Amino acid sequence: MEILVFGSLNIDHDYHMNHICMPKETTFADEYTVVAGGKGLNASIALARSSVHVYLAGNIGNDAALLEKVLAENGVDMTYLNHVDEPNGHAVIQIDEKGENAIFIYGGSNQSIREEYIDEVLSHFHKGDLIILQNEINNNAKVIEKAHEKGLTVMLNPSPVNDLLFTYPLDKVDYFFINEVEGAALTGKTEFKEILAEFLVKYPKARLIMTVGAEGAYYQDNQKQLFQPAFKVNAIDTVGAGDTFMGYFSYGLSQGYDEAECLKLAAKAASITVTRKGAADSIPTLKEVQEQ
Ligand code: RIB
Repeated sequence: MEILVFGSLNIDHDYHMNHICMPKETTFADEYTVVAGGKGLNASIALARSSVHVYLAGNIGNDAALLEKVLAENGVDMTYLNHVDEPNGHAVIQIDEKGENAIFIYGGSNQSIREEYIDEVLSHFHKGDLIILQNEINNNAKVIEKAHEKGLTVMLNPSPVNDLLFTYPLDKVDYFFINEVEGAALTGKTEFKEILAEFLVKYPKARLIMTVGAEGAYYQDNQKQLFQPAFKVNAIDTVGAGDTFMGYFSYGLSQGYDEAECLKLAAKAASITVTRKGAADSIPTLKEVQEQ
């Protein structure tokens, strides 16, 4: 089975500060760093650090040497990466004293994915392969449609939720990875249990993985529901935790683990990520997760 992440690569501008800036407020940041990020890149790093072979497809801009360096150092397969002559996508991230974050992204190169490129990348993948997607690139509907048509297992983190998301063929998604905020946006419900119930009504064939912050994570399909409590740690930076979770859960699936084992592994990995600063840089190796 091959694993393909088709997604975004961002240059992250991280600002550590006492609290996340409010409307009308001007405030100081205590620390500023520029690091590798993007939900696609982060998920590919999680998979590479978990020890599997992973391809990353997506657009990389003309100012993104840092991203290529990180991908190369971690052994992510860049064969299908597309170099474009435009500024790379970037993210501006505020991280408060409790590790909570607020992010806005500028799409840049992530928003110029061409249809022919999608066809070319997917021509190398086959029935039973895994494709891992988020919602930071354009033409995602086409990627989902094509991947499903070819028999790939489609895994989607629908973040960031936008109007376009609701035009995607979401009935062709096999696994959704969401947090409670995305769950509310997709179902119109706010209580965890209500979100889970409504999800089953809306997407009866899909498997759902829903992280609920420091509480833990749910798994649900049309047969069962599981809950994995979060591992208690001192969080200093939650950026990349969701991407780590998705990467390690997918790793578990690729190794034939059952859903409860996948949940536990992913929760452990994410609990390490939040104790470190940065996005891709903070993701643990499999050895670190096993020793946790
Ligand atoms: O999920 C974390 C990521 O979201 C960051 O690395 C940032 O680039 C945004 O894409």
